[in-house]
Amino acid sequence: MEYAVLADSGIKVTRVALGTWGMGGWLWGGADEVAGQQAVEEAIQNGITTIDTAPAYGFGLSERLIARAIKALGVARESLVIATKCGLSWDDSGNTWRDSSPARIRQELEESLKRLETDYIDLYQVHWPDPNTPIEQTAEVFRELWEAGKIKAIGVSNYNVEQMERWRKVAPLHTLQPPYNLFDRGIEAEILPYAREHGIAVLAYSPLKRGLLAGHMTPQTTFPPGDSRAEKPEFQGERFRRNLAIVERLKEIAARRGKSVAQLAVRWVLDQPGVTVALWGARRPGQIKEALGAMDWSLTEDEKAEIEAAFAQA
Ligand SMILES: NC(=O)c1ccc[n+]([C@@H]2O[C@H](COP(=O)([O-])OP(=O)(O)OC[C@H]3O[C@@H](n4cnc5c(N)ncnc54)[C@H](OP(=O)(O)O)[C@@H]3O)[C@@H](O)[C@H]2O)c1
Repeated sequence: MEYAVLADSGIKVTRVALGTWGMGGWLWGGADEVAGQQAVEEAIQNGITTIDTAPAYGFGLSERLIARAIKALGVARESLVIATKCGLSWDDSGNTWRDSSPARIRQELEESLKRLETDYIDLYQVHWPDPNTPIEQTAEVFRELWEAGKIKAIGVSNYNVEQMERWRKVAPLHTLQPPYNLFDRGIEAEILPYAREHGIAVLAYSPLKRGLLAGHMTPQTTFPPGDSRAEKPEFQGERFRRNLAIVERLKEIAARRGKSVAQLAVRWVLDQPGVTVALWGARRPGQIKEALGAMDWSLTEDEKAEIEAAFAQA
């Protein structure tokens, strides 16, 4: 098992963490609660201590599934690192909006503690920047919750450099959670260097590009109603076929190393300087176990060059 520490929070995490958005069902075509709970149990039983969730994932369901799994296994709360978020609210029709106002955050924290059946959160993160709340106000309430010991580390997600700068003038910032995978490298220009320079741990989300890099999709793959991948151009038509051709090339590179393409893709993320953790999304048993094979090895420079060439050729 490969471990890292979340910046100067001192919190020890597994370098691959379980991502639980999919098991909540929202934007993933619905939830299978039994399978979701089993996926959490499988992660814990295989030594993955670190779990990322959010209230928005199934509008509370993902957090509840984590609590159920912990209870079913009877593991000590302190043996796990639970990362959750705040700042995305929803109504009964499933509409969501951003709200990182201090009053809402205090309320959200209490609701998450209840659903997770715990009295502290290891890592609390703002899910998305809220254009209607000054960042300083959100940072201030995070500092207060951190000083009170209710949250052990402070993080933001989907923030740019300017937003992190404003935050850091008011409160500590231990982590950033941005999207990052072989196809989506937007953070490489400014955000990742900034995190490296300022000692902010990076938890990369969608490292498998929402399953595209898991290696099981074909040009015939379709998505059920309510699965937002159905509307994404990367998963449609010619672009989808081109992306799948790249995945086929990556499979060959992975096979020579005795690895699956998913393991290669996540290893590539973990090997990028500044990346602390990759959040591997799983929503049914059998998926997260594969993540173990992404740890405790590294890509060679030749392999990295071959991977780049696969993208350049496409
Ligand atoms: N902060 C944010 O705004 C944000 C946004 C996105 C994600 N995240 C976090 O990052 C986590 C990971 O990202 P993600 O869930 O978007 O996507 P991901 O990790 O890139 O991909 C997850 C999907 O890959 C497929 N998969 C995983 N393991 C597999 C296996 N062994 N065999 C076959 N297929 C496999 C599954 O798709 P199928 O179930 O369709 O087979 C799974 O749902 C999330 O769960 C969440 O915790 C955060």
